[in-house]
Amino acid sequence: MNSNRIFLIGLMGSGKTYWGRRIADILKWKFIDLDRYIEEREKMNIPGIFEKYGESNFRNLENKYLKELVSMNYIVVATGGGAPCFHGNMELMNRSGETFYLKAKVELSAKRLKSMTEERPLLKGTSPQDLIPLFIKQLKEREPIYLQAAQILDAEKLDEKKLKELFIPRQER
Ligand code: S3P
Repeated sequence: MNSNRIFLIGLMGSGKTYWGRRIADILKWKFIDLDRYIEEREKMNIPGIFEKYGESNFRNLENKYLKELVSMNYIVVATGGGAPCFHGNMELMNRSGETFYLKAKVELSAKRLKSMTEERPLLKGTSPQDLIPLFIKQLKEREPIYLQAAQILDAEKLDEKKLKELFIPRQER
């Protein structure tokens, strides 16, 4: 396994971008958020891509750009919540680097996203009280795939100390 690439996966709102940036800081590697990468390359935001081309085309773009990223080295990638679940992306990430499932309770995702539903096409129009049932359903479908990750990190217990314990030894290797 190539350990020059780290992939963070997990539900929306689990903290993939936040912790991904922190891991990249510690390792002094480059941080890439797959959604932002797609937006830059496509010159369109994610809600726009969903609206204009639909979810299945967005999933094609995720796979296309993830394939680009796996040829880069010393990168920490935060993927979108659905990315591992389409087009064999989980297998691709496991083959190309080390995967970390940021496991969060659905309540945490719902709390973090209740005021951001318009920015997430799959949450558009969902009322705050319907977010938990939506995430429960999503997790049921997606978790078997998330659990294929090499490591599982408890999003609720993750802090700077734990992060340093995990990643500083790697940086010194
Ligand atoms: C999605 C999650 C989003 C984004 C898109 C679809 C999903 O990313 O890729 O809205 O299917 O769960 P985040 O997990 O970064 O919110």
